Amino acid sequence: MTKPAVLVVGELPPKIMQALDDAYILHRYWTFEDKKKGLAAVADSVRGIATTGHYGASREMIFALPNLEIISSFGVGTDAIDIPAASERGVPVTNTPDVLTDDVANTAVMMLLAVSRDLVQADRYVRAGKWVSDGNMPLTRAIRGKTVGIIGLGRIGADIARKLDVFGVTVVWHGPRPKPDVTYKYYASVVRMAADADYLVVACPGGASTHHVVNADVLKALGPAGSLINISRGSCVDEDALVAAVKDGVIGWAGLDVFAKEPHVPADLVASDRTLLLPHVGSATEETRAAMGNLVIENLALHFAGKPLATQVPPQ
Ligand code: 8YV
Repeated sequence: MTKPAVLVVGELPPKIMQALDDAYILHRYWTFEDKKKGLAAVADSVRGIATTGHYGASREMIFALPNLEIISSFGVGTDAIDIPAASERGVPVTNTPDVLTDDVANTAVMMLLAVSRDLVQADRYVRAGKWVSDGNMPLTRAIRGKTVGIIGLGRIGADIARKLDVFGVTVVWHGPRPKPDVTYKYYASVVRMAADADYLVVACPGGASTHHVVNADVLKALGPAGSLINISRGSCVDEDALVAAVKDGVIGWAGLDVFAKEPHVPADLVASDRTLLLPHVGSATEETRAAMGNLVIENLALHFAGKPLATQVPPQ
């Protein structure tokens, strides 16, 4: 039996690429010099797309592949995939929830602690010889007794909240609607929550419904003693407003794993000594990335075996 052809949009980790290579005829989209021509040349044969939360799959790509049957994505976030286009074509989309929850939540907690204790600044202080030349570093801030406002209490947000319970903070949250079984205080308004919070943690999905959910008003409400932590999507924060807020001291600190135009980070955020900047590594451990890759492979295999998918994203 001939192997089905799969279009891989962006490079996946080597072991995953190897497993895909073994099972499918792979077309590596990122290597196409002329994307349109390259896609047209393989279009008729392609039955599956393997992609990531970053590379996604556009409407144009989905409609350029007449025999497309499945899109299997590496990552939980599906904002870069045109789900309505896939649904119109009757093409199921799968993602990799659950397996990354723990590490992404850990990243958020790690950033919150690091921001509160000026961890990266402390490291730079030692390396620059300032401990010797200037003596002890200025004091930092305890998180004990503080209020942490979480935007989005889905799998990842809820895991962050659960993990934060041991630090003696008060967790409050905002989402599109209250949840009957959640006891943390709910805020319908992000601005109101930001005003009451010392730390604002963005953990909601990306996409149109959460675009710039953290805007200039929210940052102003968070205030000069407040910190913003974002492990979700750059699109959830108005980055121009954030740059201005950090520069002008409208907020105190920011810990960011995601940005509006990755991998580009605004120069003012890089220049600030009040920012902690990570290159989108929330889920980036060997263990979690392997589990995510296995789920990408499993969903493709289940599809081509005519079996129900493991983790299908609801069609829109
Ligand atoms: C990945 C992510 O880095 O799961 C997501 O939505 O953002 C991350 O886990 C990304 O999908 C890989 O490009």
